[in-house]
Amino acid sequence: MTRPVSKSDWHPASWQSLVAQQQPSYPDKAALERAIGDLSRLPPIVTSWEVEALKEQIARAQRGETFVLQGGDCAESFDDCTSESIVDKLKILLQMSLVMLYGLKKPVVRVGRMAGQYAKPRSADTETRDGVSLPSFRGDLVNRQPFTADDRVPNPDLMLRGSERSALTLNFVRSLIDGGFADLHHPEYWDLDWVGHSKMADQYHEIVGAISNSLDFLESISGRALHQTQRADIYAGHEGLHLSYEQAQTRFLEHRKRWYNLTTLFPWIGMRTAQIDGAHVEYFRGIANPMGIKIGSGMTVEWLQNLLRVLNPNNEPGRISLIHRFGAKAIEKDLPPLITAVRETGSPVLWICDPMHGNTESTADGTKTRRFDNIVSELETAFQVHESMGSYLGGVHLELTGENVTECTGGARGLTDGDLARAYKSSVDPRLNYEQAMEVAMRIAGVAQASGSSR
Ligand code: PEP
Ligand code: CO
Repeated sequence: MTRPVSKSDWHPASWQSLVAQQQPSYPDKAALERAIGDLSRLPPIVTSWEVEALKEQIARAQRGETFVLQGGDCAESFDDCTSESIVDKLKILLQMSLVMLYGLKKPVVRVGRMAGQYAKPRSADTETRDGVSLPSFRGDLVNRQPFTADDRVPNPDLMLRGSERSALTLNFVRSLIDGGFADLHHPEYWDLDWVGHSKMADQYHEIVGAISNSLDFLESISGRALHQTQRADIYAGHEGLHLSYEQAQTRFLEHRKRWYNLTTLFPWIGMRTAQIDGAHVEYFRGIANPMGIKIGSGMTVEWLQNLLRVLNPNNEPGRISLIHRFGAKAIEKDLPPLITAVRETGSPVLWICDPMHGNTESTADGTKTRRFDNIVSELETAFQVHESMGSYLGGVHLELTGENVTECTGGARGLTDGDLARAYKSSVDPRLNYEQAMEVAMRIAGVAQASGSSR
């Protein structure tokens, strides 16, 4: 079956008549329908005002006026929906954005990979251990990680649990921000443990001091508080992978005459689900949200141009962000033709570099890791390639955590493969720890020197 072409053929479930990659197979179809129905009656997690506000911010980033920092876990877990974990994520995003604001001299728009990043694509539908095959773990929105038949069977009620945790997460983030936690006058609220004992601590404090002084100066000469800069908003985004979940909270808003996905502000289409005739593209074409498309080395000029035609037929500003993830080795060769291809379509896009997903490798004992040097190298090449082609790299997409994990090697502390076992907590991809994430922010801001080698 091919995708219907007319907008009037679209509805939140029209994707169901197409091939949908990476979806769980629920044994109890009635229970699935019940869960979708229950989910669709709950109040939404976000509102269209917030969605439109982010779209406007992304339109500004497309014009080179702002920079987008997108970051968070590869996969959130239900167990990690705790105040500490949320606060730590908020702190690292705020600290990074402060450094980037200082270095880039433009507003930084923060988009968390959070409040809904609960579903994961997998390379195989089943996992086999000792001759026993069970469904693969697809994230807490779908099933549970322990290797038992009970845990691995996809359970549609987990979509409700995921929606509740997303709402709890976002409620806490909004309350912290409304309560003054993100006030630029009080960056000390965001201090993480590392600040006392990291090589980068002095540099970070100098930046914070310089920003506080500038704020004080501007406020004293203008005689009033700078409302725009005082509060730092955090927007939420996740991979729009699990289409039943996304569909359930997709609503037509009479006052806007458009459909909105109200599970999140910024859903993105992953690399594995961007087939032009596939169910994900069908779903995404009908919603008004700003959206990301992950693109890597398999993406052809024709495919990308078709995606832009289908997903942004009216060349709406702010709608499309292209999140490229080629890997340090391939980016120099593979990115330029795609920049040219996009230019030919006339669609405004925001280019965002994801230096994580093209740089995943396995150590000798099979642990998934990423080397800090490769991450930084891909980022630096991305800035160079865009600049040399008269294009603008307006954002970065990172897997990171505010915790002191050991999942990626390298960085200021020179973590090696031997350190990985010490604090490897990710259930999926390896994340930058707080110190490595800050170092990336300092590199982007142009205020950090190269650190020791990661090898
Ligand atoms: C991800 O962002 O976790 C992911 C799976 O990325 P990609 O679709 O780019 O492989
Ligand atoms: Co990932």
